[in-house]
Formats: sequence, structure tokens, C-alpha cells
Amino acid sequence: MDYSTSILESLGEGIAAFDVDRRALMANAYLKDLMGWARVSVVGQVPDTLFAQRPQILSILKEGFEQKRLVNHVDVIDHRADGGLQHLSVSTSFLSVENQQGLVLVIRDVSELKRMEWEMFQVEKMSALGRLAASVAHEVRNPLGAIDIQLQLLEEDLGGIEGIQQERLSRRLNIAQTEMKRLDRIVQNFLRFSRTPKLRLQPLSLNDVVQRVFELVSPEAREQEVTLSLELEQGLPQVDGDESQLGQAVLNMTVNAFQAMEGPGEVRARTWADVEVGQVCLALSDTGRGIPEAEIDRIFEFYYTTKDEGTGLGLSIAQRVLFQHGGHLEVESQEGAGTTFRFFLPISKQNGLHNE
Ligand SMILES: Nc1ncnc2c1ncn2[C@@H]1O[C@H](COP(=O)(O)OP(=O)(O)OP(=O)(O)O)[C@@H](O)[C@H]1O
Ligand SMILES: [Mg+2]
Repeated sequence: MDYSTSILESLGEGIAAFDVDRRALMANAYLKDLMGWARVSVVGQVPDTLFAQRPQILSILKEGFEQKRLVNHVDVIDHRADGGLQHLSVSTSFLSVENQQGLVLVIRDVSELKRMEWEMFQVEKMSALGRLAASVAHEVRNPLGAIDIQLQLLEEDLGGIEGIQQERLSRRLNIAQTEMKRLDRIVQNFLRFSRTPKLRLQPLSLNDVVQRVFELVSPEAREQEVTLSLELEQGLPQVDGDESQLGQAVLNMTVNAFQAMEGPGEVRARTWADVEVGQVCLALSDTGRGIPEAEIDRIFEFYYTTKDEGTGLGLSIAQRVLFQHGGHLEVESQEGAGTTFRFFLPISKQNGLHNE
């Protein structure tokens, strides 16, 4: 292999070149992998064959050949060889610049980038909504306080009235006071959520976090006949984390798992390290009802809930916590079979393997 070939092969983007007759001259390993061409011999093929399943890319190439129109970083959403969706960024240039002949196709997989953009958007949207909620809650609080005082005074005044009249008025007052308390609780919850707490980071093991959460929910598990299983990797590298925030995130997901089963089942936590990527991972699986494919993109939305008593904040909070830690959250689910959430967190710089 000469230098330029090995450079092309080692690039983190897909490249193919076509001659003036639209025959492929080469495609590097990255592109073959991206396009699922493991068993295709590319050289000599025309775009119509190679991109038969990818009409958008095909039309970009046709424009290049027929109208000499090139594109620069055009976003294309395409089906992955394994069925999922991928975001591609496509560019073309001429193979021979002087006489504008032949084409070079460059494709980058920007799925990961898009996912991060989306996550960032979610988190930003959440903090904007949180601020709005906080200011509303704040404004509501003062009049609530005033009403509460008035109700208390009324209660005192009622003491001076006698008989059946008093009984009826007391009952009404009671209802008003109960509803007041409820309103107050809602406002308090809002305020609690809208504050983005500052992280107090310290090197810690995700294993300990999971273990503590599982201990916390074990009475609940016994009652619901849920088996809690731990598969924790020994000597898991530590992460820089806020213990209570991460605990909250894991707890939210565990509660969701319990609720998804509505009865006996299993919640399994598995941890492992991907040292090459510098990440620690936690997979939390349940044997619950799963999430329909059409809904899976919505579950991280602020206020999205399918439960009568849900606020739809649990996952949003978990996602925000992970995001603040430089990590992220992934979900995989099969309707009727169960759901797995995966946490990814960067390994602490000052690691320190965890001693177990
Ligand atoms: N493990 C799971 N299995 C099945 N569905 C889930 C699971 N986790 C989350 N979901 C779905 O995602 C939705 C959003 O979850 P989220 O935790 O954000 O809110 P919630 O549980 O409805 O309410 P809250 O957490 O505020 O009590 C849930 O209503 C449910 O439909
Ligand atoms: Mg929840």
C-alpha cells in the first residue's frame, strides 16, 4: 500500500471516486462500512447500482455529473445497513478540477453529532422552561401566602359562630384549606425542579451509587415481587460525580422500571468500563411492558408522561444530570419484553481505580 492509499483507508470519513464514465475507481474502508458494502466489489460499479437504496446520495451524484453542480456538507438522513437511521453529511468535488470531470464523494456520519445537538437542545429547553416555571411559581407564592393567612383568620372568626351554620362553614373552610395545601405542594415541586443544582463533584464509583439506590428500593421490590440483580464490574474506574444527583438519576430510572412492570419482574443493573473510549457504563434493564417505537423519541421530552400520576420530569431530570456530568443516556426497548437504559459517564481524570 502506498502512503496515499493508507491515508485514505485510515480517514474517519467515507470517500469514493468516480471516473468520467461514472465508474467507481475506489471506496475507502470507512465508506464500505458505512454503506454496508462488505460483500460488494465496488471498483467499476456505477452510482445507480451502488446507491440504489439511497436515492438522495444518488441524486447528488447525478447533479454532479450532469449539471456539474457540487454540494458541500449536505445533510442526508438515511437508513443504516442494520435498519436504524443515520445522519450523513455529504460533499462532492471534481476528480479532475481543470476539466470538471469525474467526481469525488465524501460522506461523514454525523449521527453522533446530531444526537449531541439534540440533547443539548433538550437541556437548554428544559432550563428555559425551568426558569419560566420558577418565576410563575414565585409569583404565585405570595398570593397563596395571603390566602392562607385569610383562611386561618376565617377559622378563628368561625369559632364565634354557633350551631348548624358553623358546621357547614367549617366544612367548606376545610376543603379550601386542603386544596390550598395541594397547590402549595405543586408550587414547591416546581421550584425544586427549576433550580439547576450546582454539582458537587468527587471521585466515586458508579457501583456504589447503584447499590445504594437498590438498597433504598428493596422494600418496594419485596412488596411488588421484583428481583433486583446486580452485575457490577470489580475495580470499576471511578467517575467525577455528584453522589446525590447521580443517585437521583438512577432512582428515577429505577422507579420507572418498577412502574413499567406493575407486578413481579426483574430489574438488572450491570456496570462495565470501556477504557478505550474513557467511559464507564451502567445498563439498567427491566422486564416491563416496554416502549412503543413511535413513542421512544418522546420519552425524554419535558412533561411527557403516560401515567395518571406522572409529572413527566423523571427522565428529563436524569438526562440533565448526566449531561451536566459530561455523559449521556441511551434507551433501547422492546414492546412487551422490557427496556434498557444505558448511562455513559467519563472516567475520572484522577483515576484512582476503585478499591472493592
Ligand atoms: N422503564 C420504562 N419502561 C417503559 N416505559 C418507560 C420506562 N421509563 C420511562 N418510560 C416512559 O417514559 C415516560 C416518561 O418518563 P418520566 O420518568 O420522564 O416521567 P413519568 O415516570 O411519567 O413521571 P415522573 O417520573 O415525573 O413520576 C413514562 O411515562 C413512560 O411512558
Ligand atoms: Mg418517572
